[in-house]
Amino acid sequence: MSLWQRIPAVAASSPMGGDPAGPDPIHARSGLGLERRAAGARPGAAVASLPQAVSDPVRPDTACGRDSAAPIVRVEGLSKVFGDAEDRVRRRMRRGQSFAEAVANEGLAAPLDAVDLTVERGEIHVIMGLSGSGKSTLVRCINGLIAPTDGRVMVAGACVSSATPAALRELRQRHMSMVFQSFALLPHLSVTANVEFGLMLRGDETKQRRRRAAEVLDMVGLADWGERRVDELSGGMKQRIGLARALATDPDILIMDEPFSALDPLIRRSLQDELLRLQKELQKTIVFVTHDFGEALRIGSRILIMKAGRPVQTGTAAELFCDPCDEYVRAFTAHADFMHVITAGTLCRVIPEAADPPAADGARQAPRVDEDATLAQVLCAAHGADRIAVRRDGAPPRVLGTSHVLRHIGALYAERQES
Ligand SMILES: Nc1ncnc2c1ncn2[C@@H]1O[C@H](COP(=O)(O)OP(=O)(O)O)[C@@H](O)[C@H]1O
Ligand SMILES: [Mg+2]
Repeated sequence: MSLWQRIPAVAASSPMGGDPAGPDPIHARSGLGLERRAAGARPGAAVASLPQAVSDPVRPDTACGRDSAAPIVRVEGLSKVFGDAEDRVRRRMRRGQSFAEAVANEGLAAPLDAVDLTVERGEIHVIMGLSGSGKSTLVRCINGLIAPTDGRVMVAGACVSSATPAALRELRQRHMSMVFQSFALLPHLSVTANVEFGLMLRGDETKQRRRRAAEVLDMVGLADWGERRVDELSGGMKQRIGLARALATDPDILIMDEPFSALDPLIRRSLQDELLRLQKELQKTIVFVTHDFGEALRIGSRILIMKAGRPVQTGTAAELFCDPCDEYVRAFTAHADFMHVITAGTLCRVIPEAADPPAADGARQAPRVDEDATLAQVLCAAHGADRIAVRRDGAPPRVLGTSHVLRHIGALYAERQES
């Protein structure tokens, strides 16, 4: 039973009432964004367009076609084993065995095992898991750096898994960029030369390259650093260059494999903020790999949790907190800071409307917060007031009693002590 399913009983004991026997507030209220799947794509996200060129040499996908509302990345039953084992598994599959049968018959544990994933346009989709759980293997299959043993990857309706080398080059030079934990910069070259590198490889003219490099260096706050050598710069600055280089080609999709994992916590946090700021402006589709659950919560529109090559659960931060699918996910949430994750919008969905304080003149003066304000921000804004108004898109503000907000926060803390 999800945490929130248990909370109405708490609300019912309040003077404002509430319906203890009422429906599960999360799942009963459709259209409110907390359905188990749902909340991935940001409403109003710019629709990135991958031109025909990427998909020309590859098999078109009849399942997702070129519908701009379809997920930009679709991973279906993706599995991988490496080296000689892969040859043996492939031989068995040619003889008619499924991947699962072939792997079991070989006595193997697949590094990537039947992963399904959809990434919506404009979202930051995080892939989170411990070291060795298959995150890098998954994203390398997405950008075609390695070929899956079974399953397929579709990008904007084109099959990456069976693409020609030319199509893959086109994909990486124009539509999909990668940012690495190790930066992968050329240390003896200037910052500008590094940022221009991808543009040079694809044959852009010098003047055009310079202009674009200056533009993206400005975006990442390094406008005055173009002439410096990369090896003179700090780790945080190097990763800004890595990001600038990835943005230089104006790709639709950014794949970031533990980009901030090697950085000190403060630098890391400022780069996370920087990425979120840039994303607001640029509305790219980002696949972001991390082993840090806190980072996943801060960055992700949705988060896929991986364990030993397998997907465990995909959800928004609030979904993972409020409705973890098993003890593995619950264990991650037990040590994370929900005060900066769960939002006023979630409170509106889980606190029954019957619990609202009666309308009074005072309600008009209630401090206001946006739907995406975190619990921490709600408490700061309330600042002793007995009610708080939550602004909502396309609906009148919802006034919540501060006592109800506190009850829900208390229940969340109690839940964590139990686990
Ligand atoms: N090129 C490779 N050859 C053999 N095994 C590999 C290779 N790449 C990854 N693996 C194995 O696959 C598993 C998943 O690795 P990886 O995808 O790098 O995990 P993560 O990125 O989550 O740390 C690990 O057991 C790793 O040793
Ligand atoms: Mg990795």
